[in-house]
Amino acid sequence: MLVNSIETVNLRGLKDGIYKFKSGTNLILGRNGTGKTSILEAIFLTNYGDSFRTSKKLNLIKTDQNFCKIATTLEIFNSNLTVGVVIKNVTQFTLNNKTISSVLNTKTSKDSFKTLIFTPDSIASISGAPALRREMFDRYIGSLNSNYIKTLSEYNKVLRQRNALLKSEKYQGHGDKEATLQIWNLKLVEYGNKIISHRSDFIQSINPIAREFYNKISNKADNLEIMYLPNVAELSHQHLDQNIDKEIQLQNTLFGPHKDDFDVIIKSKLSKNQLSRGEQRTVGLSILFSVHSLIKEKLDLSPVLLLDDIASELDVIRVDFLMKYIPESQVIITTTEKINSDHISNIINL
Ligand SMILES: Nc1ncnc2c1ncn2[C@@H]1O[C@H](COP(=O)(O)OP(=O)(O)OP(=O)(O)O)[C@@H](O)[C@H]1O
Ligand SMILES: [Mg+2]
Repeated sequence: MLVNSIETVNLRGLKDGIYKFKSGTNLILGRNGTGKTSILEAIFLTNYGDSFRTSKKLNLIKTDQNFCKIATTLEIFNSNLTVGVVIKNVTQFTLNNKTISSVLNTKTSKDSFKTLIFTPDSIASISGAPALRREMFDRYIGSLNSNYIKTLSEYNKVLRQRNALLKSEKYQGHGDKEATLQIWNLKLVEYGNKIISHRSDFIQSINPIAREFYNKISNKADNLEIMYLPNVAELSHQHLDQNIDKEIQLQNTLFGPHKDDFDVIIKSKLSKNQLSRGEQRTVGLSILFSVHSLIKEKLDLSPVLLLDDIASELDVIRVDFLMKYIPESQVIITTTEKINSDHISNIINL
C-alpha cells in the first residue's frame, strides 16, 4: 500500500498545500516548528481516527480558524482511495467523498489501510511505566489480530465491573458475596487467559526478528531479548477464590494480565532501565520493524512506516545502518538535518 499525497487546510502551523509521497523512503526535511510532525499526525488521523499527540482534535485547528481539513490519497491493492477528515465542532470522516462513521471502516476487500508510527515519545514505552509497555504491545498485537482488540476490551469491561462490585456496599458489608462474583470470575479467567496466551505467543515470535534488526542497526551482537513477565502464568478460579479476602479488603482485582509487564534486556544483563536513550530508541525501532515484518508475513500487507524525528539521539553510523536496514516498504521520515543515504526516494522541504 502507498500514501500518495496528503492535502491539508488549517492544520496547526503547517502551510496549506498538497504534499506528495513516493514509494520507498520519503524525507520530510525542515526546521523546528515547520509542521513535519503535523503531516505524520494528519496521515495517522486518517488511518486511526485519532491523533497520537492529543486527545482533543480541536487542537489541530490553526489558531484563529474554525475548521481544519485533511485528505489522504492512498493506493491499496491497485485501488485508489481518498480518506478525508474535517475537524470542526464535530469531526467528520469521508471515504471517496462519502461520509463514513469511522475510519476503521476504510476497508478494501482484502484489508485496511495500516500505518505504524514511531515518535520521540515512543521510547517511554521501553523504559517507562509498565502500563506504557502494555499499551505498546497491545497495540502491536491488535494490529496483527483484530480479535485481540475485542478480547482486550471485553477483559477491561469485566475488570471494571468486577472492581465496582468489590467496592460495592454488598462486598464491603455482609451480603451474598459468592454468587455475583463467580459470574465475573468466569469471564475474567476466560478473557484473561486468552490475553496471556496472545502476549506470550507474540513475544516469542518477535524475539528472533527484533534481535536481528537490533544487531543490524547497532552493528553489534548484543543479544536483545524481550521478556514477557506475566503477573500470573495462568489465571485460575482456585487462585481467585484463595485471594478473595485480600481483594475485598483492597477493593481491587489483584491478579491478571492488567498487571503484566515486559522487560527488554541487551548484552544478556542490561535491563530496560539501564539502557542509554540511543539504545532504547534502537530497541523501540527494532520492535516496530519486527511488527512490520510479521504484519507483512501474516496479513500480506506492507504498512507505511511513519518515523518522527528519527535521527535525533542516534549517532551517524547508527543512522546509516538504520537507513540501510529499514524494512522494504513506504517510509515517511521527518528530520531537521539532511540524512545522507542512497535509500531516499523523495525529499519534501518545508
Ligand atoms: N493549533 C495550532 N495553531 C497554530 N499553530 C500551531 C497549532 N498547534 C501547533 N502549532 C504550531 O505549529 C507548528 C508545527 O508544529 P509541528 O510539531 O508539526 O512542527 P515540527 O516541524 O514537527 O517541529 P520539531 O522539529 O520541533 O519537531 C509549531 O510551530 C507549533 O507551535
Ligand atoms: Mg516534530
